[in-house]
Amino acid sequence: MLSRALRCPRRTPAVSHSLVFACGNHNQSFPGNSQSSGRTASFGFKTVPEESKESLVKGVFDSVASKYDLMNDATSLGVHRLWKDTFVDSLKPGRKGPMRCIDVAGGTGDIALRILDYARENYADRETTVEVADINAQMLAEGVKRFKKTMYHYTPQISFHEANAQELSPSQFKDDTYDLYTIAFGIRNCTSIPAVLREAYRVLKPGATFACLEFSKVNNPLLNVLYDQYSFSVIPLLGTILAGDRDSYQYLVESIRKFPGQPEFAQMIRDAGFATGGDHDGGAWMDLWGGIASIHTGVKV
Ligand SMILES: C[S@@+](CC[C@H](N)C(=O)[O-])C[C@H]1O[C@@H](n2cnc3c(N)ncnc32)[C@H](O)[C@@H]1O
Repeated sequence: MLSRALRCPRRTPAVSHSLVFACGNHNQSFPGNSQSSGRTASFGFKTVPEESKESLVKGVFDSVASKYDLMNDATSLGVHRLWKDTFVDSLKPGRKGPMRCIDVAGGTGDIALRILDYARENYADRETTVEVADINAQMLAEGVKRFKKTMYHYTPQISFHEANAQELSPSQFKDDTYDLYTIAFGIRNCTSIPAVLREAYRVLKPGATFACLEFSKVNNPLLNVLYDQYSFSVIPLLGTILAGDRDSYQYLVESIRKFPGQPEFAQMIRDAGFATGGDHDGGAWMDLWGGIASIHTGVKV
């Protein structure tokens, strides 16, 4: 099922589409400066007016959308696939019967596809549904293209919606609705993490699960040095060679370093009202590859 947004991906009434820079050029003047609130946000290692960040992030994903899946494989050497498999396996969608899921910042539908496949392959479940919500119409359009090649295309199991994680429309994404909320490699791109968590709490049913897969803090100092070297030299270079866009990949690497560490993020999840496990690996979060990425979960109480 496709929402109106994706039959006409460049125009929806809900989201403004004022793209703010030509692909890959992050050195433009910032939109919204004239009515600046004075608050700032990080955009990678840059500090920008808070109201500019959303447009800047949209610009990054406009720029990378058509090559996003290829670049994900290239920059992570395919490892993102393993992490996403682990993420979805850990949630066991469909185990307790069909679920209504929302995958926010769902991009090209990687997590949605895994959820549907997992439920079908393990529990013969063809009733679990996933609503993919993302702020970027071009990423969603890539997702629609990809789902056309799957058995889920034109079934009620999948739908795509252009929406901002920080302010999901309450008429479209109603209170106490979903059994599972997932967000993978998306929350660090949002201007306000607490606002995203508040919305996640609102739309989940009591007792339902919030699950976030995100880059995190590496625990081992040696691994950290190697990882830093790889991230800051290889990834922007691959961005230049494969996508002709160094700046976007530089931003992606920098945004990872600005994201809070595991205990700090777990506390933010609790502050939003979720119950989590204890403040350690295997409790509130599960580290993947020494903390390069981690899975945080919380239950709406
Ligand atoms: C790195 S991609 C991850 C996509 C997908 N979840 C995956 O794991 O492959 C980050 C996504 O977050 C989306 N995004 C960024 N800010 C957002 C916001 N405020 N609300 C919704 N989506 C957002 C981007 O458009 C992009 O598709």
